[in-house]
Amino acid sequence: MKKITIAIDGHSSCGKSTMAKDLARELGYVYVDTGAMYRAVTLFAMEAGFISPEGAVDVEALRKSMDRVRVTFQFNAETGRPDTYLNGVRVEDRIRMMDVSSRVSLIAAIDFVRAAMVAQQQEMGQGGGVVMDGRDIGTTVFPHAELKIFVTATAEVRAQRRYDELTAKGEVCNFEEILRNVQERDHIDSTRAVSPLRKADDAIVLDNSHLTIPEQKAWLLSQVASLLQ
Ligand code: DC
Repeated sequence: MKKITIAIDGHSSCGKSTMAKDLARELGYVYVDTGAMYRAVTLFAMEAGFISPEGAVDVEALRKSMDRVRVTFQFNAETGRPDTYLNGVRVEDRIRMMDVSSRVSLIAAIDFVRAAMVAQQQEMGQGGGVVMDGRDIGTTVFPHAELKIFVTATAEVRAQRRYDELTAKGEVCNFEEILRNVQERDHIDSTRAVSPLRKADDAIVLDNSHLTIPEQKAWLLSQVASLLQ
């Protein structure tokens, strides 16, 4: 059967990655979490001391070090999902923590960071059979993807989901702070100069505020099926 490219873009914390991972597994496709790549670069910058406590980024230092940043994925047989590695070190859980979440938009807005990540993403998706999630997949990375989905949900629903996820992992967190972080990231992601978050003209909108995961999955599979028949 023909292997297509599926681009899933949308706002932060609306379950894009859970949806994309499940879809990839169901279809036997490769899953690429591009947000994890920007998170890994952010962690690199934090560990190298390129981000001040006030949040200022030493852009020139990061530019000079970009060729030392290698983000890869390795399939984890236990979870059935790929884990993110930064220069060979597993950072899958570390990059989901609040300190990385609150800085990643700054790093993802830098042009040379995006150019490096987009080039890697295009290489990973060569030949199709890939489900890639992010913010600019349908607009910049794969503008000719056969299926483009733009996912959204209200900011409150998304903050609640992130709160539940972090609490389940044992992280102590505050709902209001998470809601502010979600709104702030929406703002930065949609207004940045390079590849701002926007719906591709030919993307299908999925508002999952009131959908269960099985309902969403059924909807997605029906979209794929109607393309492949
Ligand atoms: O999907 P996520 O929350 O893990 O994404 C982390 C950040 O990276 C978020 O602020 C948006 C940014 N991002 C991006 O700019 N482009 C992508 N393709 C994926 C994520």
